[in-house]
Amino acid sequence: MQTNPNAPERAPIISLASTKGGVGKTTLAYVLATALARRLAVRDAGDPELRHPDRPVIVCIDADPNRTLSEALRLTGMPEIRITESDGERLLPDLRMAQSEARIVIIDLEGSANQAMLYAAGKSDLVLVPAQPSRFDVVEAVKTVGVVRQAADLVGRDILYRVVLSRTPVLRQRVADHSRSQFHKAGLPLLGVELVQRTAFQAMTYTGEPPFRQDPAGGAAANVEALVDEVGGLLDLTLPPVGAGEGRAVAEAAEA
Ligand SMILES: Nc1ncnc2c1ncn2[C@@H]1O[C@H](COP(=O)(O)OP(=O)(O)OP(=O)(O)O)[C@@H](O)[C@H]1O
Ligand SMILES: [Mg+2]
Repeated sequence: MQTNPNAPERAPIISLASTKGGVGKTTLAYVLATALARRLAVRDAGDPELRHPDRPVIVCIDADPNRTLSEALRLTGMPEIRITESDGERLLPDLRMAQSEARIVIIDLEGSANQAMLYAAGKSDLVLVPAQPSRFDVVEAVKTVGVVRQAADLVGRDILYRVVLSRTPVLRQRVADHSRSQFHKAGLPLLGVELVQRTAFQAMTYTGEPPFRQDPAGGAAANVEALVDEVGGLLDLTLPPVGAGEGRAVAEAAEA
């Protein structure tokens, strides 16, 4: 298995942040955690040096007192994912512990600017800022990126961030194009892949069934895998590919 000699030893940290509630942070955290865990488990299974059955592949730090991510992940019950419930006070020690065990750490934050957001951003390799295609969300994304910049100033390094369009209409591409241009005008870098509006994404946080379990060859699963590919590329992660026809095979390999 290929390893990247330039890859950092410590687990990369991805934070989901927004100063506004309800934009899709937890939804995005959930699909990334479950899809990355599945792919990395497949990768690690083929490499004795990477395989640590006693260690989690992903640690999800739930820093939102509503604990929506923790609840959904408990329902899902993937042994590769460990859930840590945290808050602004405990975040730094929780992160240290998570990084010593996991291959990737994902932090889900509350929808407001607070200490936890500043700490999480300051420790992150990538901050994802979900935003719905509306003018209000452009303003909120600018505010959120302001917090990321403060964190970067505080820790004395650049922090990579991307706005992720969420709940975009599957068919009305023109609306999405218009809203992309609004984010560009505000100087906000966007992820190329967006999380489209789908009932599969709404259902999964209640059922604990990620898209690759609901329908491995479906549009929602394909959307998530494309997202994982782009995020993996930004973080220089080595991930086995999952194409439309391969989804089922990887799911079976992961369950075997
Ligand atoms: N792509 C999507 N398709 C369909 N429904 C979605 C999608 N993204 C989010 N939702 C729904 O929108 C609502 C808000 O999403 P979510 O809980 O992920 O946002 P949040 O930013 O974590 O909110 P909070 O700030 O309250 O934690 C939820 O009911 C969720 O199921
Ligand atoms: Mg949330």
